[in-house]
Amino acid sequence: MRIDIITVLPELLKSPFEASILKRAIDANLVEVHFHNLRDYTSDNYKTIDDYQFGGGAGMVMMIEPIDKCITQLQSERKYDEIIYMTPDGETLNQSIANQVSLKENIIILCGHYKGVDQRVRDHFITREISIGDYVLSGGELGAAVLCDAIIRLIPGVLGNETSALTDSFQDNLLAPPIYTRPREYKGWKVPELLFSGNFPKIEKWREEQAYERTKARRPDLLDRK
Ligand code: ADE
Repeated sequence: MRIDIITVLPELLKSPFEASILKRAIDANLVEVHFHNLRDYTSDNYKTIDDYQFGGGAGMVMMIEPIDKCITQLQSERKYDEIIYMTPDGETLNQSIANQVSLKENIIILCGHYKGVDQRVRDHFITREISIGDYVLSGGELGAAVLCDAIIRLIPGVLGNETSALTDSFQDNLLAPPIYTRPREYKGWKVPELLFSGNFPKIEKWREEQAYERTKARRPDLLDRK
């Protein structure tokens, strides 16, 4: 998979890709991530990327020309399956969307700033608009980092244990059950006895019940999803 991220603040985005699982995935050539600074695609001395809104109103708008130049340049080099715009009014990111995007070969992620981008960018270039939640960030970069983390860990080979992404919370519309490790008892707080029984069908059944009870208590909305 190849991810091209278009941003005015590449430095805000880089560190998540320089540590942990994301770095390992990049080092193992399971994913390529490239950053493109929108100011490199401007044509004036001031490297202008935004301007006032037509019709008046507070807040600057990101101009279409640098974005067009950057996307068109990338599209001349390869075909993209998805051009995603990070925006609070997009569809809210969930595991199902992460699964879908992780199956793509080449994607572009455009990070918005200020009031957002000229609507014509959305109308003519963008194929999918994603929000990471019902709150407004100062730019799309942190949202792009969240999206990339969610999709990269799903690429086969990225996680050490191939099954572990499949048992994550949300993968089956259920939250994950409680988990324990050593010591067996800490300050008098005990691990459920069943987990030492060696009765794996029974342990599996217990985990399913716990996952269901936790979901019912914390996120009943997930149980209604198809
Ligand atoms: N840009 C600003 N707010 C955002 C959000 N909630 N999700 C994605 N991109 C954003």
